[in-house]
Amino acid sequence: MMNKLAAPFLALLLLAAAGTAAAAGGADVRLEPAPINRLDSASMQRGARTFVNYCLSCHSAKYMRYNRLTEIGVDAAMIQDNLMFASDKIGNQMTIAMTARDAKAWFGAPPPDLTVESRVRGADWLYNYFLGFYKDDASASGWNNLVFPNVGMPHVLWKQAGVGRLVSTEYRNHEEALAAAIAVKGLAVLAPAKDHKYVVETIAVDEPGAMTPAQYKVMVADLVNFLDFMGEPAKNRRINLGIIVLLYLGVLFVFAYWMKREYWKDVH
Ligand code: HEC
Repeated sequence: MMNKLAAPFLALLLLAAAGTAAAAGGADVRLEPAPINRLDSASMQRGARTFVNYCLSCHSAKYMRYNRLTEIGVDAAMIQDNLMFASDKIGNQMTIAMTARDAKAWFGAPPPDLTVESRVRGADWLYNYFLGFYKDDASASGWNNLVFPNVGMPHVLWKQAGVGRLVSTEYRNHEEALAAAIAVKGLAVLAPAKDHKYVVETIAVDEPGAMTPAQYKVMVADLVNFLDFMGEPAKNRRINLGIIVLLYLGVLFVFAYWMKREYWKDVH
């Protein structure tokens, strides 16, 4: 009885799963893992500086107050002198002057608030978003992005990164394309093309920026580390608490074992 009912239900589930896979367009976005470290406060501080200098003009972080930056080791004087606009107070949230309406008119889409962006997209996606910009004369901003096609945001870090170009290589079948995408060892998009062929898309930097590719990746990792902190500031406390708990259990184990030996000494 149960099986008779379960079979069509399972078939339906399978169909639904196949449907979502097809709806995704079949493009396989292979992200490079973000090398971030939540215990590295120097990295988060550098990320905060990049965020304030390059992002806060368009994006707000209105659920974040400046004084929370003390949690990543920035002291109040430094926040006031280096990270805030003169008119702000240290208890203020990170808001911006631009209105959503202006933003929509200028960029086609309003820049979303970034406080919890890392929870929406994940650190790997954010890291690759900043590796994925390339020059595209067909777009309004002059830029396009491999992980966010037709994005309305210009490449605000292009001076550091240099100018990227989209490289699209065609392969006869999926296996060859997949092998090529894996060999990239970094961001690559694998997508079906005409006649059962596949293309692999990557970014090549034509005009080098002020930084080497390795230096630029560190800058982006720091930025993503900070975005990750903003999205979940309490995570650091959890990690630290976890370490303390494990140390405590370690010490407890020594005493428990010692006691066990004492108790059983007389039994044997
Ligand atoms: C010149 C204005 C401008 C600046 C400066 C800017 N952005 Fe954007 N950003 C935008 C706009 C506009 C969008 C919306 C794009 C769209 O939806 O097509 C966007 C989108 C994004 C998104 C994707 C949001 C999503 O999930 O849909 C992320 C992430 C992002 N920006 C991060 C940043 C970071 C980090 C910086 C600083 C390094 C930055 N932006 C600087 C204008 C800007």
